[in-house]
Amino acid sequence: MNSFQFVNPTHIVFGEGTANQVGQLTAKHGKTVLLVYGSGSVKKTGLYDKTVSLLQDAGVTVHELPNIEPNPRLSTVNKGIAICREQSVDFILAVGGGSVIDAAKAIAAGVPYDGDVWDFFTGKAVIEKALPIGTILTLAATGSEMNGSSVVTNWEENLKRAFGSSHTYPKFSILDPTLTYTVPRNHTVNGAVDIMSHVFEQYFSLTENTPLQERFCESILQTVIENVELALENPEHAAARANLMWSGTMALNGGMISVGMANDWASHGIEHEVSAIYDIPHGAGLAVIFPNWMKYVHEERIDRFVQYATRVWGVNPAGKSDQEIALEGIQATRDFFTRIGAESRLADFEIGSEKLDRMAEEAVRYGAIGSFKRLEKQDVKAILELSL
Ligand code: NZQ
Ligand code: ZN
Repeated sequence: MNSFQFVNPTHIVFGEGTANQVGQLTAKHGKTVLLVYGSGSVKKTGLYDKTVSLLQDAGVTVHELPNIEPNPRLSTVNKGIAICREQSVDFILAVGGGSVIDAAKAIAAGVPYDGDVWDFFTGKAVIEKALPIGTILTLAATGSEMNGSSVVTNWEENLKRAFGSSHTYPKFSILDPTLTYTVPRNHTVNGAVDIMSHVFEQYFSLTENTPLQERFCESILQTVIENVELALENPEHAAARANLMWSGTMALNGGMISVGMANDWASHGIEHEVSAIYDIPHGAGLAVIFPNWMKYVHEERIDRFVQYATRVWGVNPAGKSDQEIALEGIQATRDFFTRIGAESRLADFEIGSEKLDRMAEEAVRYGAIGSFKRLEKQDVKAILELSL
């Protein structure tokens, strides 16, 4: 295990009915709020009306930025920054999934910055301060509700980039699993795949002596596997929705499950290049790419893949070589994604080989990616080719 420091400042308020606390929680941090939300789900469910009235009852002035896109766009973030400056907004409340929360973080970092907020995504500038943000999460997936990361797409240039900062952790996040009852089937699936993928990025590591972290990872994977089909069969399955939501938050909250371990993140890097051009849902892209990444890299550390196969999927190792066991675990992953309804090929999104070269090039723009196996451009391209 490597040396580490760990801080996570986000106040989590979990449980049915907790959205009722949004007024008091927000009023602790700000008086003039930008309410950021997506394309309509919060209006349909009544969460929008309820939130606005709770904020007003708490004496908070509300301005709004609706229509955050899934895969949120830089142009929309810039609109939010302009509103905050014009209206002297002092707090941002994101009500939605990862896209809404990520947009809120980018706005929060952009408001006090003199330059272009995109600088934070290209590494040209480092965030030194940000407006405080809070969230009401409506979709179990990204972990953005308890981490400092934001992922935004510069659509004009087909670039999707991330930043991570200690200044953009939400002050609070309200996690009411009943708010996810209305998440449609495809986004429930995409969310589950994203949660599992966050765990994979941390679990498949070359760092030695991390048994506790590995078991944290395995327990999240097993919890998602046990609960997602229950939520798909019955979208109002309270326990399943609660377990998925907490799994999502724990899977990517500043690295708690993998402290002291080298992380990989190559598959995320590759998926972001696909989304940047084709605007596909993040989890759907990961369902295609991750099993192919696994096939491509598993020989780097076969014992971790054997452990994964046996502990997570219950593969019986008797009479099999390590290679056979590892491949059985990878196939079980693919089969599971397919069984819950995730796509398995880029062709399912009508993506062909035309832009593989550009995607591979962009993925390694700052050098080789990944730590489990360092991937150069030709490796990324090979994984994309396996994914066609
Ligand atoms: O826009 P609305 O109408 O709200 O609809 C959304 C959207 O269409 C819908 N939805 C959300 N909650 C709902 C609901 N529909 C009905 N009932 C509800 N309760 O779901 C759709 C997808 O939402 P989105 O926020 O895009 O999904 P997700 O949470 O998966 O976020 C994806 C974005 O997060 C980034 C991804 O790259 C992508 O841009 N990521 C952010 C990370 C982070 N900040 O740490 C890490 C991730 O790896 C990821 O890269
Ligand atoms: Zn992800």
